[in-house]
Amino acid sequence: MNFKELCEARYSCRAYETKPIEDEKLKYIRECVSLAPSAVNRQPWKFVLVTDATQLAVLHRCYNREWIKNAPAIVVCCQQRDEAWVRPCDGKNHADIDIAIAVEHLVLAAAEIGLGSCWVCNFDAPLLAQTFPLPQGFEASALIPLGYPAGEKTAKKRKAVEEIWETR
Ligand SMILES: Cc1cc2nc3c(=O)[nH]c(=O)nc-3n(C[C@H](O)[C@H](O)[C@H](O)COP(=O)(O)O)c2cc1C
Repeated sequence: MNFKELCEARYSCRAYETKPIEDEKLKYIRECVSLAPSAVNRQPWKFVLVTDATQLAVLHRCYNREWIKNAPAIVVCCQQRDEAWVRPCDGKNHADIDIAIAVEHLVLAAAEIGLGSCWVCNFDAPLLAQTFPLPQGFEASALIPLGYPAGEKTAKKRKAVEEIWETR
């Protein structure tokens, strides 16, 4: 699979088999995430792999959708704003950019090895902060369910290449 094929293979999977994910696949994903670039190499992130049923139930309450409940794993992707690079000229904090790159490594690595995933940011962030303890200084940026897809890949709807690119 070349990179474009991988980009096409990744989609927002909203139907999972309950089958657990093999340890070597999780190890591969962890390593791909750790290779993500970040501003000034600060790596202001942590990832919590959740497979325990009780802990998963806490996350399900924070994103109360039936489709996520079969996923055998959810990764809580966390950013550390205090550690992230801040651009001196305008004070822009780069934590959001850094975590997005690392999470995209995660979902692309998962797709490469046949696993489904879905970016989830529409979770109840205050509830998660209250009910799912995270390392000090970290906040949850995205929940990523992981597992074997139970359904068909959904079609991509994208703006035309010509619409989003210009050359000067
Ligand atoms: C930052 C971000 C947040 C998202 N949050 C959610 C979400 O909370 N729930 C959901 O079902 N999908 C979520 N998505 C998935 C998008 O809806 C999806 O990526 C988009 O429709 C394109 O479809 P595709 O991923 O299948 O190519 C999110 C995607 C991104 C990149």
